[in-house]
Amino acid sequence: MEKFLTETEQWLDRLYVAAEGASLRREDRRKAVETAAMLVEIERAVARLSGRKGLLLLDAAAGKSYVGLLAAKLLLAPRNDASSVVTLERDPRRVASSRRAAELLEAGIPVTCLRAEVGDASAWPAEPAIVTALHACGDASDAVIDRAIGCRARVLLLVPCCTGRAVRACASAARRAEELPVPRHAPVRRRFIQALVDAERTWRLEAAGYETEVVEFVPPTVTPHNLLWRARRVGEPRRMAAARAGWERLSAGG
Ligand SMILES: C[S@@+](CC[C@H](N)C(=O)[O-])C[C@H]1O[C@@H](n2cnc3c(N)ncnc32)[C@H](O)[C@@H]1O
Repeated sequence: MEKFLTETEQWLDRLYVAAEGASLRREDRRKAVETAAMLVEIERAVARLSGRKGLLLLDAAAGKSYVGLLAAKLLLAPRNDASSVVTLERDPRRVASSRRAAELLEAGIPVTCLRAEVGDASAWPAEPAIVTALHACGDASDAVIDRAIGCRARVLLLVPCCTGRAVRACASAARRAEELPVPRHAPVRRRFIQALVDAERTWRLEAAGYETEVVEFVPPTVTPHNLLWRARRVGEPRRMAAARAGWERLSAGG
């Protein structure tokens, strides 16, 4: 059994589902698997930041804040070191649900659920230790990357979701597909465009000083959007220069 899964299911049931007089459905169980896998990632990041006290975790595009709230309760509160959590979400109903759940949770550390656009720099704290974004849809993933870089987050754990036209690298990838040309078959084109979008995001993080791994954080049977960007700020100049060169070549289409 996956680490944190049983606890995650119990908490999702208690905070969100039973609170509405229902019981866990199949999609709630899938969400529990994803959330538990994110908690494993956060636990690893916390361990790597072990010398630092008072960790601030920011959960972006948080939805009902499953990840942020359970990280507060299960991973940060037990440290007893003035850690805290902020969640950012644009949908007022999800923010209200997050706040209700935070009250029921009694995490024991400060948890603030903000209604904000992830691209709004004024909503982001300076130098959060860990930024998480599970299934940040479309261009929200681009905004999370930019803001995590802008506020000098130590660690970013990002799982992008759907790739629509608003996604930063999508238009240039579609142009490249025409120029090469890539056959018009939709699944072939889609994969090509997705690969370029993924590459642009990876170079962008590396060029900004992040050592980046891209891993399957859950099996594709749980979600087709199962790639996690695990990025740690190291600020290594040679690595950054090489990434900048790669990013420029990719952007220029050379
Ligand atoms: C697919 S849901 C994922 C929610 C949550 N992270 C989870 O995994 O359960 C994406 C969430 O991002 C929010 N969102 C999308 N774009 C956003 C933006 N620009 N600023 C803030 N929230 C955004 C949506 O309202 C939605 O709640």
